[in-house]
Amino acid sequence: MYFKSPVSIALIVIAISTFIGIQSCEQHVITFPEPEVGYESFSKTILPILNNDCAICHPGANELDLSQEKAYTALTSGGYIDTENPESSPLYEKLQGSHDTYTSNANKEFILEWIKEGAKND
Ligand code: HEC
Repeated sequence: MYFKSPVSIALIVIAISTFIGIQSCEQHVITFPEPEVGYESFSKTILPILNNDCAICHPGANELDLSQEKAYTALTSGGYIDTENPESSPLYEKLQGSHDTYTSNANKEFILEWIKEGAKND
């Protein structure tokens, strides 16, 4: 009876998958990008990303304006940034969703870092 209870079955499944998880971690070396490398400030890190990867489709007019002059205001006053829950920022979610391929993963992390640091206009 003991082993048939849902809780103990769940515990066995968790134990087995943890074991498999540990095994596969030993087999695959996962290299994460160094979070601090390259990120400096909005003007030095984020604006160039917006200019290079976004402005072509967001040049101004009535859509989200990510041009050099307007990008900061458009993002911060348009409700795209949530400094309390950076990962839930609509900007960041967009880059994980339909805009997944529009910039590099490293750039997405820089954008997340900028939000985490308070989305300052620095
Ligand atoms: C190939 C064209 C294209 C590129 C490149 C592009 N976008 Fe977009 N973006 C769109 C279109 C079209 C929409 C409106 C439809 C939608 O929400 O997907 C949009 C919508 C958005 C929205 C949501 C706007 C809203 O009010 O809902 C955000 C945020 C955004 N883009 C950010 C970016 C960022 C940041 C980049 C650069 C990494 C980028 N976009 C690059 C075409 C583009």
